[in-house]
Amino acid sequence: MEPKPRSASTVTMTQIVLPFHANVAGNMHGGEVMKLMDSAAGVAAARHSLCNVVTASVTQLSFIEPIFVGDLVLCKAELTYTGNTSMEVYVKVDAEDLNRGIIKHVCEGYFFMVALDRNGRPTKVRPLLVENEEEQRCYEAAQERIRHMKEVQSKSENC
Ligand SMILES: CC(C)(COP(=O)(O)OP(=O)(O)OC[C@H]1O[C@@H](n2cnc3c(N)ncnc32)[C@H](O)[C@@H]1OP(=O)(O)O)[C@@H](O)C(=O)NCCC(=O)NCCS
Repeated sequence: MEPKPRSASTVTMTQIVLPFHANVAGNMHGGEVMKLMDSAAGVAAARHSLCNVVTASVTQLSFIEPIFVGDLVLCKAELTYTGNTSMEVYVKVDAEDLNRGIIKHVCEGYFFMVALDRNGRPTKVRPLLVENEEEQRCYEAAQERIRHMKEVQSKSENC
């Protein structure tokens, strides 16, 4: 299969934060942020693989700053790595205060997505075409996260 560059699948999804997205403190509920991130990761992975995809796991999810009702949330998802049937997607969330024109980096995380065939079984994905040093660095960091994840999994299986 032909390799595909990161730019071909990168997506930015936006959403205005409404009162029904908020928790009792008036900030955007964490689950709503995760849902948007998961959707964006799914779109990037589906664009890359041209398959249905599912989320296998999420790592290093960080809520850095609160998001308020009225903010515009910008959720950017881009592929960092492809395995045999899996893809890692980095999702970065910014929030724009539309009254002050200030954009804050509020949240980020890494989503592992798996491509499925018509029978719902994992299926091979085209490789990611790494185009520059920054993308190579991201690719190697993803490999390290996968190595670490497998190590943790094998330790917990032994408990
Ligand atoms: C994700 C899932 C398809 C993996 O199925 P499986 O039978 O374990 O498949 P395999 O063991 O062949 O693994 C397939 C790929 O998934 C990866 N994978 C499996 N579990 C993973 C996990 N927890 N985190 C990251 N990657 C994972 C494997 O490393 C493998 O990657 P590779 O082919 O690139 O090497 C299956 O566990 C599943 O359907 N989970 C539910 C997904 C879901 O419902 N998500 C929420 C809604 S979208």
